[in-house]
Amino acid sequence: MCGIVGYIGDKNSAPILINGLKRLEYRGYDSAGLGIIEEGTPRIVKAKGKVSVLENKVDSDGLHGEVGIGHTRWATHGIPNEINAHPHFSMSGKIMLVHNGIIENYSVLKEFLISKGYEFVSETDTEALVNLIDYYCKEECDLFEAVRKALLKVDGTYGIAVLSKDEPDKIVIAKNGSPLVIGLGEKENYIASDVNAIVEYTKRVIYLEDKEIGYITSNDYLIKTLDNHKLNKEVNEIDMDIDEITKSGYDHFMLKEIMEQPESLRNTMRGRTVLSEGIAKLGGLIGYEERLANSKRIIISACGTSWHAALVGEYLFENYAGIPVEVEYASEFRYRNPIIDKDDTVIFISQSGETADTLAALKEAKRKGALVLGIVNVVGSSIARASDAGVYIHAGPEIGVASTKAFTSQIMVLSLITLLLARMKNMSVVQGQEIIKAIEALPEKVEEILKHNELIKSVSAHFADAKNFLYLGRGIHFPVALEGALKLKEISYIHAEGYPAAEMKHGPIALIDENMPTVFIAPQDAVYEKVLGNIEEVKARDGKVLAIADENDTKIETLADYTLKIPRTHEMLMPILTVIPLQLMAYHIAVMKGLNVDQPRNLAKSVTVE
Ligand code: AGP
Repeated sequence: MCGIVGYIGDKNSAPILINGLKRLEYRGYDSAGLGIIEEGTPRIVKAKGKVSVLENKVDSDGLHGEVGIGHTRWATHGIPNEINAHPHFSMSGKIMLVHNGIIENYSVLKEFLISKGYEFVSETDTEALVNLIDYYCKEECDLFEAVRKALLKVDGTYGIAVLSKDEPDKIVIAKNGSPLVIGLGEKENYIASDVNAIVEYTKRVIYLEDKEIGYITSNDYLIKTLDNHKLNKEVNEIDMDIDEITKSGYDHFMLKEIMEQPESLRNTMRGRTVLSEGIAKLGGLIGYEERLANSKRIIISACGTSWHAALVGEYLFENYAGIPVEVEYASEFRYRNPIIDKDDTVIFISQSGETADTLAALKEAKRKGALVLGIVNVVGSSIARASDAGVYIHAGPEIGVASTKAFTSQIMVLSLITLLLARMKNMSVVQGQEIIKAIEALPEKVEEILKHNELIKSVSAHFADAKNFLYLGRGIHFPVALEGALKLKEISYIHAEGYPAAEMKHGPIALIDENMPTVFIAPQDAVYEKVLGNIEEVKARDGKVLAIADENDTKIETLADYTLKIPRTHEMLMPILTVIPLQLMAYHIAVMKGLNVDQPRNLAKSVTVE
């Protein structure tokens, strides 16, 4: 995790870096720092806490200079405090460095450096790296070469930016396992962990790959492999607007992103269906459709919310396309020597496209010869680039740490892939057309649900003081139960568990009393009557019930304490609707508890460490 940013040009770098760090704060927000060369003197200002605390400090210090680097931290080695915050100076005070990643062999490096007389002030792994660069800079220093030599000794992951007092006209950068992008401007250049940090200054970017190293000056750049071969990399034009990464009048990014779902879903589905033929048309899978449809097995792997979407995908692919599916946590998959053969397809789902576990699992699946597909939001991200093929969800930037619009767009893409596969198999054109019509009508149904935001808020108020929650759903709604529980845990710090409704009797029912609310996801599907039975069981034990139910369902209202209604759609798409009241409920409860919705404690948006 952590976010890094750098600027070199003819303007004062401090406000540009602070602005960039604010846009990267979703990657970590326990401490932050800037390092700037001010009239030939390297200066660092750091602060514990949010970037706004750093901003105040920088303003009062009057930090000023045309070249600088910045960092917002999510602690791995060493508690969040000013000493451990980045940038870190080398012992000589000549070199400063910001780092996103983990130096795994830092203790060996540190021991070596101590034997050479280096002293350390922080508890971080990063300080070993900046001192190692300093060590290689002892005699005649060429910063680029010193960084390169040091990185050849490093095991671990890094996205780094390095500044030296002796070469103030360049920022040296390198990447391995943590994202890094160069932004090209006019008489100025930028580096950042992702394009959000620099999109208001430039749309021309170059993505670095693992084991690449380079530098930027104000009017030039160079990129090489770590073993010193010069590279000519593609310059990409990014298609992103600044509005997409601001709150646009909403109190929180999370609320904005929930409310954006009609539009994000339209963007996900746009141009991807052909009604006359009842088929889906996915440009990113062209040339891979047959191999995918003939897969002996599909494995879907992801983490967190994306893993919940994967569970929906399992249900869809098996039910409609008749292909056996397994869903795996990427963190487990990567370490358990999974049995994969060349007739398998492994699909990786990731909003950020940078989740370390998912990326490592992807590399493992590739090594074993499977077809590797990505379902990713962030264009040009590591997972998107490492996949053989894939489908972007086009949900737009998701800044709130709690994933919302990415989840519904992931399910939309999984539904489109299901349609593609099912039509290649047994699904009739008429059935395909029914699904397309339902897909097209979906954004308006989402709008309908969002109109009830105030009602959802008032229902949420009845539950804001609960200490524990149970979320229950069956079939395709079980993943929604898991997702509802995760949303609540993440931002409200209320303990919540998701279960298949029928499993309640096998344990969780023991927890139910008047203080333990149960949320039932209970649309009128094949198991509806059974879910009503489960509601009766909770009521019989004095439990409070909130039901997410169909708009025409009057029966459930007589059983549940509170009911939130959703419009009907094709069964395949129901999770997209049922999850929305749960997203809003988690949001409102967190706001009522006065919590930081967009930056919940201990979390970061993209988990780029193990
Ligand atoms: C969701 O609300 C979470 N913050 C988290 O579980 C997230 O979904 C997970 O870390 C995976 O991220 P990715 O989709 O970017 O790979």
